[in-house]
Amino acid sequence: MPAQSQYGTTAKLFHWLIVALLTVQYAIGWLMPDLHRDMKPGAPMTLHVSLGLTILAVIALRLVWRLTHPVAPDSSLVGLQRLASEAMHWLLYLLVFVTTLTGWMFASFRGWSISYFGMWPLPMLSPANPAYNKAIDGWHQAAEWSLLIIIVLHVSMALVHRFIYRDGIMQRMLRGN
Ligand code: HEM
Ligand code: HEM
Repeated sequence: MPAQSQYGTTAKLFHWLIVALLTVQYAIGWLMPDLHRDMKPGAPMTLHVSLGLTILAVIALRLVWRLTHPVAPDSSLVGLQRLASEAMHWLLYLLVFVTTLTGWMFASFRGWSISYFGMWPLPMLSPANPAYNKAIDGWHQAAEWSLLIIIVLHVSMALVHRFIYRDGIMQRMLRGN
């Protein structure tokens, strides 16, 4: 399919839905009680895992949409700018996948059984494996912080385009362009 010059309504809805879900997810992640050895997941952790797997499903759908509905970088971006912007976007997708999958591995290695929002049992990725608990915890934290750093850079660039370059990049992700 030839690349479009603008994001469509679906791409914009996916973008802002992920922003909303990630905002809530980081808040739950930081506010939920710290884990101790052999602890069973309580309500906040069930919420974090359920929302996290929702994010995984939404980002997978969004990626399929992105691949089947390509959008060309803005024509005002040239050379390295174009490359950096594209690289940043793919890195955002990648890091959302890595963060959700390391979280899921964490829950799996602990041998937890968790129901999706307390309703349907969730499949785990592997049998319990306490030997890897510490390592996978480190991976989930590294992933969530890397994602946050790239998000901060991404939002900063959007604001630089809006208020310093005063071009139309920000408008590309907003309604009615
Ligand atoms: C993009 C989605 C996700 C984000 C942004 C995220 C973010 C976070 C944050 C901020 C923490 C607190 C860790 C800390 O103290 O630094 C955390 C902990 C945790 N997350 Fe996630 N998470 C996500 C997805 C998931 C998923 C899908 C699962 C499981 C299926 C999961 C399982 C866990 C577990 C088990 C902990 C506790 C680990 C600990 O206390 O060190 N997360 N997450
Ligand atoms: C308030 C926060 C945010 C603002 C203001 C913002 C703004 C924008 C803008 C203006 C674009 C269009 C850039 C262009 O195509 O030239 C864009 C694209 C994009 N944004 Fe954000 N963004 C925000 C948060 C996020 C977050 C949290 C993610 C995390 C996944 C994200 C992922 C992406 C991706 C992947 C694209 C490329 C479009 C696509 O391939 O689907 N954004 N964003």
